Amino acid sequence: MEKFDSIRQSLLERVAAEAVPRDVLKTPQLKELYAGISALPAEERGAYGKKINELKAELEAAVVAREAAMASADIAPIDVTAPWDENTEPQTLLPAAGGTTHPLMREMERLSAIFTRMGFAIEGSREIDDQYHMFETLNFPKGHPARDDYDTFMTVETDEAGDQLIAPAHTSTMQNRVLKKYKKNLEAGEPIAVVVPDRVFRNEDLDARHEHTFYQFEGVYVGRGVHAGMLISTLKSFLEAYYGKQLDVRVNPFYFPFTEPSFEFALSCPFCESQDQACKVCSGEGWIELLGCGMIHPNVLKAADIDPNEFTGFAWGGGIERLVMMKYGIEDIRHFESAKLDFLRQF
Ligand code: DAH
Repeated sequence: MEKFDSIRQSLLERVAAEAVPRDVLKTPQLKELYAGISALPAEERGAYGKKINELKAELEAAVVAREAAMASADIAPIDVTAPWDENTEPQTLLPAAGGTTHPLMREMERLSAIFTRMGFAIEGSREIDDQYHMFETLNFPKGHPARDDYDTFMTVETDEAGDQLIAPAHTSTMQNRVLKKYKKNLEAGEPIAVVVPDRVFRNEDLDARHEHTFYQFEGVYVGRGVHAGMLISTLKSFLEAYYGKQLDVRVNPFYFPFTEPSFEFALSCPFCESQDQACKVCSGEGWIELLGCGMIHPNVLKAADIDPNEFTGFAWGGGIERLVMMKYGIEDIRHFESAKLDFLRQF
């Protein structure tokens, strides 16, 4: 009986103190009391059982009273506009949304890391430029017919020279600036070696292979005795590192105003390794035309005050989406800007 009284006392005290008093009803001590019934002589069991039931009813009434007191208590309301205090607030109210890096950004970082290891510096381009950098310094004088090959977005306003400004249609728009900035390398007996991965814009009709806004990577290398063999081996080494496999490459003659000679550079299909007649990347051709390149035209070097009799160089420029599409067998360039989570989460 003494034990019963002390348990009763402690349970009533707990109900009066708990924030969630209902939990006290589940305490093992109550069960213990019920378990004690069987230890009693038969004639005492009825009265004892009744006492426990009364205690239970008493506790339940105390719980109801405590809950009512809690509900009406003077608790300060939560100020939802209060500043976040990371020291006192729980950190994990919501499951993490799990954002990831966009596949194009990740591939651009990979590309830049490979060229950095090969000794190239990385530079950015710009989103608005003038005709001097986009055309003039690249040996497209005013009225040159090849200007029309670039479906260029132009501003209505003109600059001091009276020319409309341009959303650059190729990363070659940076060549003159890069040559001038790194010219000091030549004076120090070092080559100029720079890669420019960045955004370009073209007034294109959109389809699975054409976007109005896309990415290119430009390469510029200038030094003493630089020749076309170095151009081909540089691009081959990069592509083999990027795709992680051995590739065949070939060049065909082409025309660009800013290179002489100019080439179109092709590689064996990195997706099917030129083995699949029905390959969705190379259409069973086994070869893919990837980018334009060539030996930098003497006029382009001169525009940056570099003597073409002393120094020669090569350059290339090509689409980054295409490089990535060939790696993963992506069939539509528009997926990159589509914001489709099903697409993005594959990478
Ligand atoms: N700018 C050219 C284009 O977008 C690509 C290109 C060709 C860049 C040859 C070069 C180059 O630097 O040497 O079509």
